[in-house]
Amino acid sequence: MTSKDTDPKFPTSRTKLLDSYSYDLLFNESVSAILRNQSANGAIVASPDFAQYQFCWLRDGSFSAYALDCAGKHKASARYHAWVNDAIGGISGIIDDVITKMERRDDVDPAIMPPARFALDGTSVVDDWPNFQIDGYGTWLWSLGQHLVESNQATLPKEWRSSVARAARYLATFALSPCYDVWEENGSAVHTSTLACVYGGLTSAASLLDDPGLLETAAVVKDRLRATIINGVYAKSSENSDVDASELWLLTPFHAVEVNDLAFVETVTTIEERLTLKGGLRRYSTDTYFGSGAWPVLTASLGWHHLNTGNGVEARRCLDWLAERFDDNGNLGEQFGGEHRDLRHYTEWVDRWGPPASDLTWSHAMYVILADAITRSGLPATGSRAGDSATEAAT
Ligand code: BGC
Repeated sequence: MTSKDTDPKFPTSRTKLLDSYSYDLLFNESVSAILRNQSANGAIVASPDFAQYQFCWLRDGSFSAYALDCAGKHKASARYHAWVNDAIGGISGIIDDVITKMERRDDVDPAIMPPARFALDGTSVVDDWPNFQIDGYGTWLWSLGQHLVESNQATLPKEWRSSVARAARYLATFALSPCYDVWEENGSAVHTSTLACVYGGLTSAASLLDDPGLLETAAVVKDRLRATIINGVYAKSSENSDVDASELWLLTPFHAVEVNDLAFVETVTTIEERLTLKGGLRRYSTDTYFGSGAWPVLTASLGWHHLNTGNGVEARRCLDWLAERFDDNGNLGEQFGGEHRDLRHYTEWVDRWGPPASDLTWSHAMYVILADAITRSGLPATGSRAGDSATEAAT
């Protein structure tokens, strides 16, 4: 475990807790943070403290809803899914329109695509944000499937059926189209981790809707994924042969590759070699956002991957890395260390948007997901089963 003593560049106010901090305490802090950041209507704000993130992203929100299910907060997770259902209902005309255009082979303007993020009241935001990001729709369908499993529901509630079918049709239609990636960048490329999110969404929707046709489209996406392998490694995108840490999701959680897929094994090794920063993971080599620090979301994804491939020690190390980044108020930020790695770009972003988000709901979600996965795996942990004390009534 890294500590302040060995790592002066990462001063952490949690140091006094490092010897005795309880995984349960941090788990409960993170669950509370997600609940606190959820509006009464179910929307989950990306960050309460960062002006640019006062919206609900399908990506962040859907991982957060899965975290709520991991913590037994099924009612709160259901509220999120009901909110997405309404939000998709509100843009049904946009989705149907772009699908029709694509089927007719008309030009589809990326600026009019269904949004990646919504206002907390569920309405679309009209601005110049790069909306065309299909991964979030895939992640939502995956998360909804998990919600039903975790909350012991055998079938999809009928009031959600049409938005699930619409989101699945949207994904099936645009699965192989270039669009912005999970970092909302590079709209002209096909991104490997986006393909994985789409695959996860389509396979989930196939089972939710009992529609085997969606599995056929998912198989096409899987074939396209194989085509992204360059020199034995899954490339970041059709325009970039480097790796991206979000490619960890190819296996966990979206199962778009097999556990013994050699190119994937090599991709993970390459991600670790190229993107590790002080024990955490950066997004990609040429990233400059706030100096490109290490992200809890990605470091937890690495731990989740290791856990699912039998390396509990590495999973626990990743969890510890996140645990050390909580501040005294229980906040867990978006990224750490960019100011030391690349001060010029860090400052550039601070001048534009202020300091990076010091509390990111998705970071909390990934702490919960990894801590829960470790607990479920039976790996020895300090304290009792994380989250046992949290009651559904609190939601
Ligand atoms: C990240 C996205 C994320 C959004 C909100 C952006 O900086 O690149 O992946 O969805 O912030 O957290």
